[in-house]
Amino acid sequence: MKILGIESSCDETAASVVEDGKTVLSNIVSSQIDEHRLYGGVVPEIASRRHAENIGWVVREALLQANCTLADIDGIAVTYAPGLIGALLVGISFAKGLAMSSGIPLIPVHHIAGHIAANYITHPELEPPYLCLVISGGHSHIIEVRDYTKYHVIGRTRDDAAGECFDKAARTLGYEYPGGKFIDAAAKLGDPNAYKLPKPKIPNSEFDFSFSGLKTAVINTVHNAEQKGEQLRREDMAASFQKTVADTLVERTMAAAKMLSSKKLAIAGGVSANSGVRGAFEKACADRGVKLYMPELKYCGDNAAMIACQGYYDFLAGKRADESLNGIATLSLDKISEEQ
Ligand code: KG4
Ligand code: ZN
Repeated sequence: MKILGIESSCDETAASVVEDGKTVLSNIVSSQIDEHRLYGGVVPEIASRRHAENIGWVVREALLQANCTLADIDGIAVTYAPGLIGALLVGISFAKGLAMSSGIPLIPVHHIAGHIAANYITHPELEPPYLCLVISGGHSHIIEVRDYTKYHVIGRTRDDAAGECFDKAARTLGYEYPGGKFIDAAAKLGDPNAYKLPKPKIPNSEFDFSFSGLKTAVINTVHNAEQKGEQLRREDMAASFQKTVADTLVERTMAAAKMLSSKKLAIAGGVSANSGVRGAFEKACADRGVKLYMPELKYCGDNAAMIACQGYYDFLAGKRADESLNGIATLSLDKISEEQ
């Protein structure tokens, strides 16, 4: 069964054809980041306009590279939530047009469910139930994946998402947006014990995250050094920051795995590409006898293969949308699990 996936929730216009939820026949990602970088973050209005300009050729190219026409496609999966509303609506409207004109079923896919599903592409043997940590630019969630389409969120960020924290720390250290990957590269050259940064404690909530205190600590340390005219080695700060984030993510997630007696853990989302985070989870899981699943680097960030893959499971579960499908800027995974 071939699913065409369409993703436009943020700043990547993406389309992909995936067979049987695991074989990626094409994976086209058109990034707008060079333009948003000029503003230090994603500008929603620009994102919507670029999606509108690019969605046509991106979808055509995905079909071409998969050696398909629409006649070969069994379902059109599109990200409908969460995300920037104007950006989501471009993908949704395009997908609806395709579905209405061809009669192919339309499948609404939750973006975070898509990130989780990226693991099925890299590890076709992975089956629910398992625990998944989703760490992206907009989300930091610990999720019990009970089935391919059923989720229970057991931990979430109280303020900044992990990726947001990486990007803000990176900006303070003088790296371009989005700076997560620059921190990753710099951290390889620095001493992770050079700076002592705070690890947030949240009362009565073992599995929630809070990254705003850590972000402020980096900003204050950098500004204090500047005011005193001291030279701060940014590789050391990058390494110390990255280790603090990785340790916090590992601590909370492994506590959740222990509580649930879960022996399978997946990580997903843009920040799961971080080498320090991947290394810290590899070690913690090996120490505790937990099997770890991580997406290939190209499926960590936003892409449409993950949407097509999740679309396959949503299709099997009977999820369909009609021509009234709308975008939703904020929607918890718990909520879509209740609807079934
Ligand atoms: O999943 P994603 O592509 O988009 C969202 O759904 O938000 O995640 C983007 C985030 C950005 O904050 C980016 O800086 C971060 O993922 N990121 C990284 C790395 N690569 C991307 N953060 C740390 N280390 C990396 N190597
Ligand atoms: Zn994402």
